[in-house]
Amino acid sequence: MIINKRYHPIGLFDSGIGGLTIAKSLKELLPNESIIYFGDTKHFPYGEKSSEDIISYVKNIFEILLKYDCKLIIIACNTAYAASHKYLEKNIDKNIPIINVIDPMIEFIQNNHAENKVGLIATNRTIHSDIYNNKVLKCKNLNKLSSLATPLLAPMIEKGQNDDNKLNKTITHYLSNNSLKDIETLILGCTHYYLIKDKIENFYNKKIKILDASKMAAEKAESVLEKHNILSDKKSTNKDIFMVSNLTENFKNVVHKLFGENIVLKSCIYD
Ligand code: DGL
Repeated sequence: MIINKRYHPIGLFDSGIGGLTIAKSLKELLPNESIIYFGDTKHFPYGEKSSEDIISYVKNIFEILLKYDCKLIIIACNTAYAASHKYLEKNIDKNIPIINVIDPMIEFIQNNHAENKVGLIATNRTIHSDIYNNKVLKCKNLNKLSSLATPLLAPMIEKGQNDDNKLNKTITHYLSNNSLKDIETLILGCTHYYLIKDKIENFYNKKIKILDASKMAAEKAESVLEKHNILSDKKSTNKDIFMVSNLTENFKNVVHKLFGENIVLKSCIYD
């Protein structure tokens, strides 16, 4: 018997709070869907971990999400995808559609910013994997991105850095780097940065376009669900579930701020 997964949840994961921005856009676009979110706070920051370590985390998280019978998995973390995409292509059950946050961004750039000088900021692991530029260089109409690793940002955001001065100084330090000189568009290549998008826009006095993939990824999810005929047509009765491998005060604060109190938040330890 073929089971239609129309009413099953959508699984998403990130190393921490960054992917919550994708979850938020997804719930706004597809309010009928229920979600299972995994924040791997115990192993944060992925940006400073080896690819081998990240692949083993990703394997474990997939196992957890698949136990909930998710109908679609969204890798809401650039770094996790950059480190594990080759592994996933070979090893994950092809019946589960998987989407990431990098491909929708490349498609958007191709359609809207092909003429622009585009910059990219992301974690060390993402920048050194060269995943963005490898994809960009396969598109005939795109030029190489001006890339910069900005490794101090995600940890400040994950911690809930409340000293704005310190955060703004770090942003200024990175964005003044010569490699980003003259850019007309900037890709936020780490989902954590979406949470400080306004500060980045302010640095540029709103003169350059700052791109985050939250809406793009949600739209991609919608089209994949439609294509597989598993888009929910009625409001899910399941509660959204948020799991973390280490329950931190800031994760709690951010998840409640974005999704309200009426959610399930639990610790899920794995090694
Ligand atoms: N949010 C993750 C990303 O999109 C990275 C943060 C980390 O270093 O764990 O790349």
